[in-house]
Amino acid sequence: TTPLWLDCDTGHDDAFAVLLAAHHPSLRLLGISTVHGNASLEKTTTNTLSILTAIGRSDVPVYPGAVKPFSRNAVHASDIHGSTGLDGTTCLPPPSVQAITKPRAILAMRHALISQPEGTTWLVATGALTNVALLFATFPEMVQHINGLSVMGGAIGNGFTDAPMGQVRGEGVRFGNSTKYAEFNIYCDPESARSIFSNPKLAAKTTLITLDLTHQVLANLEVQQLLAGDPLAPLSTPNHLNLRQMFHQILIFFAHTYRDVYGLSKGPPLHDPLAVAILLDGQSEVLNFDDCGGERWHVNVVTDGLHSDLDSERGEVGRTVITRAEEGGVRIPSRVDVHRFWVLVDQCMQRAEQA
Ligand code: BDR
Ligand code: CA
Repeated sequence: TTPLWLDCDTGHDDAFAVLLAAHHPSLRLLGISTVHGNASLEKTTTNTLSILTAIGRSDVPVYPGAVKPFSRNAVHASDIHGSTGLDGTTCLPPPSVQAITKPRAILAMRHALISQPEGTTWLVATGALTNVALLFATFPEMVQHINGLSVMGGAIGNGFTDAPMGQVRGEGVRFGNSTKYAEFNIYCDPESARSIFSNPKLAAKTTLITLDLTHQVLANLEVQQLLAGDPLAPLSTPNHLNLRQMFHQILIFFAHTYRDVYGLSKGPPLHDPLAVAILLDGQSEVLNFDDCGGERWHVNVVTDGLHSDLDSERGEVGRTVITRAEEGGVRIPSRVDVHRFWVLVDQCMQRAEQA
């Protein structure tokens, strides 16, 4: 099994990342750190604990990390995730255990990573990169120790000739979701993102799941029905129904905000679980992530500009600009087998039902 640590800001799509990380038989989830992002740190931590409770994995330790970036205020996404960060479900249980505050998150991360053999463990980040940047700044030797870093973040629309994000919106030029250019996780803390992508050794171990990929993976009606399961199936139990119902309600809320905010009516892109799924590709699952034959990229993050700039919609803070790397560089997959991905999510849900 592949050991991993998850750093997240649990909102609607992070919940599915937690599901995959906690229930795929080929993965071993060592722990979770939480970060500011979709909502305040307090809320993303509670949401994470509640999801773990719902899926029968309260044994996974959860450590609250950074409340805000070092050099900016925190920004939240209540228009997409609601005021709790995980609005829209009536089935979410209260956490059955508390978060762990000692040791602090980055010490716990380091300890968990170092306790595994060198070159085996993955770090998966599905929120702002504050905790991850602090980990590698404080313990640079962790770069050598990990197998890889998988990040959901960024939007490159202009990096590929047929940017699906542009197609989805029918505009061609808009490829960010926070602003015209910036994806939310990078926009939240661009300085932390930059410190990761500008570290050549770390960049060479990094996989970036951008909006250009996640906007191909839409939780449309068919997917919503697949994951809702069959309420009349003979094997159904009350627990079975609640878990499916909870994830169903989460998807429906997400679908509604994506429709209202972005006019995306086909279904919401389920960004974060792809950053977990890529660990399985070619190992126990064949998801056919396509990185154009191993092409690698330098990722430059625009850090000039304030979130509060009146023209932040036009400003470029948080934009990820890519150029081809001759050596090293970040891996940026551009395609995935969407059907197999959803089957994988469904299988993890089945395992959660049995937990
Ligand atoms: C990212 O932003 C957050 O709102 C989602 O959870 C995801 O991690 C997508 O841009
Ligand atoms: Ca997230």
